[in-house]
Amino acid sequence: MTVTSIRTLSDPVLREQAKPITEFDGELRTLVKDLRDTLEDSRGAGLAAPQLGVGLRVFVWSPKLPGSGSDLDHLVNPVVEFPDEEEQDGMEGCLSVPGVYLDTRRRMNVVAKGFTMQGDPVQVVGDGLLARCIQHETDHLDGILFIDRLTPQMRDNWMATLRAADWFDEDLLTKIKQSPHQ
Ligand code: NI
Repeated sequence: MTVTSIRTLSDPVLREQAKPITEFDGELRTLVKDLRDTLEDSRGAGLAAPQLGVGLRVFVWSPKLPGSGSDLDHLVNPVVEFPDEEEQDGMEGCLSVPGVYLDTRRRMNVVAKGFTMQGDPVQVVGDGLLARCIQHETDHLDGILFIDRLTPQMRDNWMATLRAADWFDEDLLTKIKQSPHQ
């Protein structure tokens, strides 16, 4: 069991575009194991490689997440598609933004294509919390955090929550991107 420390908001690795995985080797299997062990230890819903300081396109999710169903709990080089326009609202948090939970709008349904760590092509069809998790983790691979997805009024709420957090530092404000979405 290898539990690795999770990078938090001010770490630049969380803002970088992660690179596609080209070698499905022992190193990748170790990375997936570290992600699983660290996720289980922290009782989160999902964890992406950049959160462990590794800029590669892979993430894991908790098998306890409703709808995860199958044995599959990770995706390499994921591509997310939305089969419809339906949206969901719900509380969202991130192990890299400790103690902050905010209502975040996401799509309700996803179809995520990618690979297992053995290099086999797989597809995950998910809704609800699993779909939310897959969107959140895929965002991590593109350097996007859930706080970037907030509406302007949610942003005000989040600023109040953020300022109250014991790890808050004014420098963080310069690192928060404006939402690329409407
Ligand atoms: Ni996260």
